[in-house]
Amino acid sequence: MKLKRISIRSSSGTYEVVCGAGALQDAAKEIRALGSSSSVQVVSSPRVWRALGKEMKRARLMSREANVHMFDDRETAKNLESVKKIARSLSRAGADRKSLIVAVGGGVVGDVVGFVAASYLRGVALVQVPTTLVAQVDSAMGGKTGVNLPEGKNLVGAFYPPKLVIADSQLLRTLPNREFRAGLAEVIKYGVIADADLFSYLEKNFDAILRRDAKALDLVISRSAQIKAHVVSRDERESSLREILNFGHTFGHALEKVTRYRHFQHGEAVAWGMVAASLLGHEAGLTRADDVSRVVTLVRRMGVLPAWPRVPEKRLVDAMFADKKTLHGKLRFVLSRRIGEGRSYESVPLHLVERVLHFTPRLMQAVENHLGKLRG
Ligand SMILES: NC(=O)c1ccc[n+]([C@@H]2O[C@H](COP(=O)([O-])OP(=O)(O)OC[C@H]3O[C@@H](n4cnc5c(N)ncnc54)[C@H](O)[C@@H]3O)[C@@H](O)[C@H]2O)c1
Ligand SMILES: [Zn+2]
Repeated sequence: MKLKRISIRSSSGTYEVVCGAGALQDAAKEIRALGSSSSVQVVSSPRVWRALGKEMKRARLMSREANVHMFDDRETAKNLESVKKIARSLSRAGADRKSLIVAVGGGVVGDVVGFVAASYLRGVALVQVPTTLVAQVDSAMGGKTGVNLPEGKNLVGAFYPPKLVIADSQLLRTLPNREFRAGLAEVIKYGVIADADLFSYLEKNFDAILRRDAKALDLVISRSAQIKAHVVSRDERESSLREILNFGHTFGHALEKVTRYRHFQHGEAVAWGMVAASLLGHEAGLTRADDVSRVVTLVRRMGVLPAWPRVPEKRLVDAMFADKKTLHGKLRFVLSRRIGEGRSYESVPLHLVERVLHFTPRLMQAVENHLGKLRG
């Protein structure tokens, strides 16, 4: 299959995302084309390496085994301790300013290793090899890196764009089902906010995508990556346009927060959030009922989501106000006037938000009951 090359502009130069099944086979060549480096240092996690280490060795990214560094990529290990551990391991391996760091893994690996690359010797070149759907369509592009503090998620970080991203959809074959499905939420998001054709394609081909059919997967990954690339090229620092990427996320983050990040995968919370944001758009007189219904239907096809938490609506509202994305104490929501278009709105009346928080789980329950009846 033909590989796609997508360019992203950033404050520190333009870089390319090479995407498609088999992209990894060209990785060594692509890396050499970046210019000479004193050594290539691969950083990954034991879990990712167990699934994909063989492929990585075959791709000959690094010349010596000694230059592979491992750290635990659980979300709870996305912290400064891991940064220190990796930096020390790099130092022991003799990595210098001309070394190149290759991050192989999902969003956790990309965020942590990206931050290491930004700060080790005040910055060394970075290549991202994303291995989850979330990482391939979202986190490996755009230059946001960072780690969590006990006080909150992603509180320490840096903008540090990579020199290259290799997004090989074949690497997703070993991804656990729940991770894969959750990643589809971000793909649906791109359809809603920016690409009506992508959304229709998803509606027509969702079963093939769930089977991880190579052709369908390549299409949705490259379309999603193009949208992300377009948005972050125009607004690297999230001053305006980049905000549309937060569709479903104001609600989603609140759901994650009140359940202490244990109940939902991020994408599952975003899926709930997109249903809520569509209903909110409807309440605000922007989104047509028909579009709400299309979003609900597609989200439902991701599979049954973990239950909406049984907490008072007020707790979710408080969590939204505590989100670091709140500006001047005002809630901001990305809403969609029609599938394929999204924009950020502030000053959405709070009583509408509360109403939507009340109705979203009830609506999905009604859909479930209906589907249950159809199945007999
Ligand atoms: N920087 C950004 O712009 C950005 C955007 C979105 C999310 N994020 C961050 O990304 C993180 C979530 O990333 P994620 O959803 O990719 O999950 P993840 O990195 O937590 O990976 C999920 C699990 O899958 C395993 N895994 C990864 N690739 C695999 C493969 N090919 N085969 C088998 N197992 C594999 C991992 O070891 C891990 O256990 C969060 O920390 C989030 O904050 C960052
Ligand atoms: Zn997200």
